[in-house]
Amino acid sequence: MPGRENSLLISGITEFTRETDLSAYTAEVRFPRGIDRETFLRDYWQKKPLLMRAALPADSFGLAAEELAGLACEQEFESRLIIEHGPGAWELRHGPLSNADFASLPDSHWTLLVQDVDKYLPDVASLIDAFDFVPGWRIDDIMVSYATDQGGVGPHTDAYDVFLMQAVGRRRWRLSYGEYGEEDLLPDLEQRILSRFDADADWVLEPGDMLYLPPGLAHWGTAEGECMTYSLGFRSPNRHELASDWYQHLLSLADEQILKDPHDLQLSSLAELTSGTRDGVAQLFDALPSTESIEFRLWLGQYLTEPKPQFHILAPDQSWDANDLEGLVAQGSGIARHPFARIAWADLADGSVALFVQGESLIQAPSLRPVVKRIAERRRFSATELATILHESTEAGALMVKLFNEGILEPDETSA
Ligand code: SIN
Ligand code: CO
Repeated sequence: MPGRENSLLISGITEFTRETDLSAYTAEVRFPRGIDRETFLRDYWQKKPLLMRAALPADSFGLAAEELAGLACEQEFESRLIIEHGPGAWELRHGPLSNADFASLPDSHWTLLVQDVDKYLPDVASLIDAFDFVPGWRIDDIMVSYATDQGGVGPHTDAYDVFLMQAVGRRRWRLSYGEYGEEDLLPDLEQRILSRFDADADWVLEPGDMLYLPPGLAHWGTAEGECMTYSLGFRSPNRHELASDWYQHLLSLADEQILKDPHDLQLSSLAELTSGTRDGVAQLFDALPSTESIEFRLWLGQYLTEPKPQFHILAPDQSWDANDLEGLVAQGSGIARHPFARIAWADLADGSVALFVQGESLIQAPSLRPVVKRIAERRRFSATELATILHESTEAGALMVKLFNEGILEPDETSA
């Protein structure tokens, strides 16, 4: 299959994907009464938590605990095993884990967490389709956890939005609306666990229930018997990270033009750094792009869609042309975004539009704006939708061909 050379061929996973029904995921998130997509985005997203009972069908989660344990033994997956030996006595082991790690575990009070499961398992990735009511470019990964009775990662805050989907079994979630700082963390631990926690809400989630948490809200999940939870986590770049990348970018654009002295130098005060000197520096800086520039828009899109290093997409072996895409339409095959792909778009001030893909910007003519918007918003297209794009214009067809040749789009294995 084009575009998937860099994915894993792990025996356990291959078996899982072959046996599982790959029919396209069509479920939508069911909001509580009185809340819809608009009200969620306006009133809850990044603002306050929301408990959503029966938000997804309880059978949406097909991964078995043994399969998750198999992933945790693979080099390619980031995984953690967290064991609570007693109050305040936490042990953290990083993956890849081994059989010996699992053999030595107690009967309760431990959890296994595996990141980026969506990148390799189509069934898990397809859950993301149901979250098209929040900014897609922020989506980071689906982490899957398995816990034995009372297992969990302890009370903590996360610096990002998360949807916690209860997949199997029951988990108790306690939330605390108080403020917590560095001084509230248990000392001498690699993981960040709060030493105090005053619960304001206390809910037990069943399969299909979901809890949305905004960044920074303290929470504490403990398994009630064995359970599995899927967490859809989002990216939240902070001021330090953004500034560090933008100023680094500006540095790469700065030439070696020297600072000249001002015209009104005074013999009587040659040691003084005058406003003329400061103006000279300001003029040098003014020649660099500001946050109003197109350069800034391009940098931002590239920065926000940059994948983690392990999720760069290799070009497929097969090269695609317009006829090949027409062939997909004729076969009734839909197309899907590569599971590693991060996509966003922006208007550029000159009327053209930029499609940002995996840290790259593809600048397109104004007429392609609707197509660019659609490509950035949708993770899947039916054969009919593909035909509409291909027949819209030669440029639209050329953009689709380019995205296929970069491995960003590919035939949707779940659609035919
Ligand atoms: C989990 O245990 O599955 C989620 C951990 C968390 O609260 O971030
Ligand atoms: Co958390």
